[in-house]
Amino acid sequence: MMIRRPLLFLAVIFTIISCNSTKKETATTKIDLDKFNVKTVLDANLLKEKEVTKTLVYADSFPRNIDKGSKNWNFVGVKDWCSGFFPGTLWFAYEYSGDQYIKEQAQKFTEPIKTIAYTKADNHDIGFMVYGSYGNAYRLTGNEEYKNVLLAAADTLATLYNPKVGSILSWPSQVHKFRHNTIIDNMMNLELLFWAAKNGGSQTLYDIAKTHAETTMKYIVRKDSAVYHVGSFDENTGEFLRGYTHQGYADESMWARGQTWGIYGFSMAYRETGEQAFLDTAIKLSDHYINRLPEDKIPYWDFDDPKIPNAPRDASAAGVAACGMLELSMLVKDETLKAKYYNAAVSYIKALSSDKYLSGDTNQSLLLHSTGHFPHNSEVDVPIVYADYYFMEALVRLNKMQEAFAAE
Ligand code: GLY
Repeated sequence: MMIRRPLLFLAVIFTIISCNSTKKETATTKIDLDKFNVKTVLDANLLKEKEVTKTLVYADSFPRNIDKGSKNWNFVGVKDWCSGFFPGTLWFAYEYSGDQYIKEQAQKFTEPIKTIAYTKADNHDIGFMVYGSYGNAYRLTGNEEYKNVLLAAADTLATLYNPKVGSILSWPSQVHKFRHNTIIDNMMNLELLFWAAKNGGSQTLYDIAKTHAETTMKYIVRKDSAVYHVGSFDENTGEFLRGYTHQGYADESMWARGQTWGIYGFSMAYRETGEQAFLDTAIKLSDHYINRLPEDKIPYWDFDDPKIPNAPRDASAAGVAACGMLELSMLVKDETLKAKYYNAAVSYIKALSSDKYLSGDTNQSLLLHSTGHFPHNSEVDVPIVYADYYFMEALVRLNKMQEAFAAE
């Protein structure tokens, strides 16, 4: 089935509630509504989420990764940057299924994260932790208690803002090494600030988020259309000192997940501000990513690792890219571009839904083959919870879009 009427397509897209190879991609001009059945993938995996929750202790421990050869999650405490992803995955599962048991589990895993909103900020990850859990919780329930936690979390995140630099200090614990540091990942946490400014928080939160995105665009997005992982700034003058990597192969290489944080982050920043330069940046980063992807659509952990094709993949980056490009497809006006980013996102979701990446009965996760921190030999080619989170988000988003197309 093809989209026949472009104007109607536009109308449909804008009514969807946003949750807010070295080979060149051949130009496609049409949305490709083929036989990929997103519901089948969702149904199979939701059942798994439901089963997994029965074996977990939810008090103050959250799934993070699974060792090679093991079946079960390793857990982290509430302060770990990944604490919000498991509850968030459950909220997406509830969103699709309406299953009350999954909702109860989502509530239980969300609750302990409240403490992050009311504790002195020691990193920018507050957005990942609180927006992934409480943000989805509030979006789906409208519960005012969730809203209050989100507003407090936004104020806490904003305490890390340095007006001289025009950005949030991402890692206070790394100032000895990188001075005032701002990492590309931090783009994702701006969504909490934009949300808060629209929902009873201060206008300053919006200004901070927009300025942070501008600073990131100016210094961390490189001329070669890739991104630095870390931008280092003089904390007193705001001067940009230099770009580094922390989790990538080299300072000037293209770390896969960093590129996808940029794709999703700048798409979201455009959605929230209408700033054309943010949209242009999201397009530039997406096109570079698309053009450099291997044929099977799942990136190696870093596009410049000389060991490719014998380097590990990063399924998590594919999930983030899918979410970012679904978002981007809803924001661009041009029909050819809409089709390009939508079809690219679907190709990543399809690849992740293949036997090679779905974990099936292998272990408790949804996805295999993600890479967290290769240079530290940490979480290399294993299941990681944020891969599951962005995969589930992408599936649920795609399902909503497919339903809207079908209703046309
Ligand atoms: N935000 C940390 C990472 O992407 O690994």
